[in-house]
Amino acid sequence: MHKIAVIPGDGIGPEVVREGLKVLQAAAAKTGMEYEIREFDYGGDRYLRTGQVVPPDFLEIMRQFDAIYLGAVGHPEVKVGILERDLLLTLRFGLDLYVNLRPVKLYPGVETPLKDKGPGEIDFVVVRENTEGLYCGAGGFMHRGLPEEVAVQTMLYTRRGTERVIRYAFELARRRNRQRKVTLVDKANVLTYGHDLWQRVFQEVGEEYPEVEKDHAYVDACCMWMVKNPEWFDVIVTCNMFGDIITDLGAIIQGGMGIAASGNLHPGQVSMFEPIHGSAPKYAGKNVAMPLAAISAAQMMVEFLGEEETSQRMERAIVQALSSGRIRSLDASSGHRTDEIGDLVASYV
Ligand code: IPM
Ligand code: MN
Repeated sequence: MHKIAVIPGDGIGPEVVREGLKVLQAAAAKTGMEYEIREFDYGGDRYLRTGQVVPPDFLEIMRQFDAIYLGAVGHPEVKVGILERDLLLTLRFGLDLYVNLRPVKLYPGVETPLKDKGPGEIDFVVVRENTEGLYCGAGGFMHRGLPEEVAVQTMLYTRRGTERVIRYAFELARRRNRQRKVTLVDKANVLTYGHDLWQRVFQEVGEEYPEVEKDHAYVDACCMWMVKNPEWFDVIVTCNMFGDIITDLGAIIQGGMGIAASGNLHPGQVSMFEPIHGSAPKYAGKNVAMPLAAISAAQMMVEFLGEEETSQRMERAIVQALSSGRIRSLDASSGHRTDEIGDLVASYV
């Protein structure tokens, strides 16, 4: 029996999560996958009501689950940074979810803004380091607000943290069994300490995977290749900050925020799954948000839980819904209702 914590969160989060759970339920009913869910009200509304985004024993509660399904964080009445830190980053850092897995896969029937590229050319995975780098929160001000103000924001890497995420990328390239290639994306020409460490660890770990091709791209060039030659990529491994940036680009080439999903993983431990999009407050409560990203995140969660058959059913249903010609577009102005899309995907399960 898998135990799943559901945190619908803010804005459109609750609406899209409802559809993800609908598709999960339909698939589990077919395969006999057993799970129980418990819902939590963590997020902006709770913060405005109680002054706390999450309770003090938040992480202890979360550790009792096998997986966490998150909708979205971000509330127009809460100062930027609070919800991100107290909910999202606390989960990532507190549960040591060191892999942020972000597939960039163009499904048939989905439009990409890239000219002359199709599903055959756009199918790779970004493995974003998720617990270190510029996100570590180390830094400070001197003479804050004065003309001589100094601000320091530290980019921190550990050998252990770098090694485990690079190893995950190599294992993934092996498991995917496609191009068997890992591309390290960094800025070692300028970040001559931090990304020098990344390059050395990449070489060292890479030696254990002689059958996997080792490739390299500077992050600026990577942005260019992702648009010009996305077919060159199989698995990309990169640091936290660059992974954040290039996966927004990745989301757009796979059809947009309406479809891009991610997993925050610590293999063997409780892990968290979420759509890449935000809470989109202006669409909240209107039943117009595209739930496919959340449905896809639920599918990634089911795969992580080892429920291969259920996961395949869910992915097949997503693919069939997309190629049915019944989904006009993947943005909130598509004219589709959120629940209608959930029903459609569930019907293909
Ligand atoms: C993401 C988001 C977060 C990040 C924000 C909301 C803190 O942009 O998941 O990509 O920067 O990681
Ligand atoms: Mn981001």
